[in-house]
Amino acid sequence: MTHDRTPCLEITAEALDRDPYPAFRALQEESSVGWVPELGMWLVAGYREVEAILRNSDDFVTGTPDSLIFDTFGEHMLTTEGAQHERFKSRFRGAFSPARIRASMEQKTEACSRLLLDGIVGSGKAEFRKAYASRLPVLSILSLFDIPFEEEPKLRLWYDGFEQALSNFARREDVRARAHGYVSEFHVLIRHHIARVRAAPDDSLLSQVVNDRSDDRLDDAEVCRNASIVFFGGISTVEAVVLNCLYALCTHPDALSSVQRNTDLIPQAIEETLRWLSPVQSATRHVVRDFSLGESTFREGDIVNCMLGAANHDPRVFDEPTAYRLDRTNVRKHLGFALGPHFCLGSNLARLEAITAIRHILERCPDIRLSADHSTDVRGFEFRQPAALHLEWRV
Ligand code: HEM
Repeated sequence: MTHDRTPCLEITAEALDRDPYPAFRALQEESSVGWVPELGMWLVAGYREVEAILRNSDDFVTGTPDSLIFDTFGEHMLTTEGAQHERFKSRFRGAFSPARIRASMEQKTEACSRLLLDGIVGSGKAEFRKAYASRLPVLSILSLFDIPFEEEPKLRLWYDGFEQALSNFARREDVRARAHGYVSEFHVLIRHHIARVRAAPDDSLLSQVVNDRSDDRLDDAEVCRNASIVFFGGISTVEAVVLNCLYALCTHPDALSSVQRNTDLIPQAIEETLRWLSPVQSATRHVVRDFSLGESTFREGDIVNCMLGAANHDPRVFDEPTAYRLDRTNVRKHLGFALGPHFCLGSNLARLEAITAIRHILERCPDIRLSADHSTDVRGFEFRQPAALHLEWRV
């Protein structure tokens, strides 16, 4: 039987936001693909099916001219496919290799993390999202572009405006206009730094992109548009992986004491967090032409949400998928950074920031635990993390 938008999922947006995993499991026990009428889109929950779609950029594309991401930021690496996508991404890829990130960002990330922790540790308790996790990625990304820390409040303001615009499904004109204003302000900032590194080239990421001598180098407008996705792709995602890892460890005391005893396990804890509680739960694609996958037929123009969080809980790939375990031998198969042509550009920086954060926090906050005075509410269907994370430790 072929499903053609047959509502095969009795599921609400509220239930997905609260806890999507039961719905994912139900879907995996059926065909792994389901049309959700309330969302007006397909959900894909099987690892194999998600992988097939993300690798197929002929039939499934990231951005159409009327998509919210295109409307907000225009044409850049996450709204293009094929040769144009590769042209954009290749200019940035070298600077994000593991070796280059280690060389350019290890010390800077350490310094940003210590600066933030110095202001927290003495109090013995803090709400970690506001005090640390939301700030570390902003400071890191400013360091990566060699932009002074004084710009942090502006970056935060712009970022919040962009986040609203990217979920502006009601297409409110005020939300859209505000985001466009912030994009223009961001471009003014980047153009200022483009002029700086053009006049005095250095070894920064921006200088490499701007001083590229190849025939099809990016013009300044293209640099600005791609810089926006590089800049803002690494903010709430890193915030979430730090919070999700702290939450995972604090709710799994055996894992926490293993990591406290042996900090070499921190990278494994980060990878298992990306699998168990994926910060980015979905990768959205638009269907270019009618396409059948198993028993389902997607129609041209349909929206297909590849649920990375569901694929990461697919029992056909991960044993006991709901368990948080540090001994998985195949944890690196997780799709927390997606895969295929749009695989996360910043994965090595994200790992560096997350490992540094967890190491410093465990070092400087002994006996860390969830605060007994606050409950922790983990929410989100496309991005998932605690809204706030109140922690306590021994001083
Ligand atoms: C734990 C943190 C992070 C997570 C979980 C994450 C996740 C993802 C995912 C799932 C995608 C693919 C989206 C899709 O296919 O629709 C992606 C793409 C991307 N990410 Fe990340 N990301 C993280 C950190 C970062 C950082 C730190 C940066 C940059 C500094 C970054 C920059 C990007 C860019 C530029 C893309 C688009 C790549 C392309 O279109 O080819 N991300 N990320």
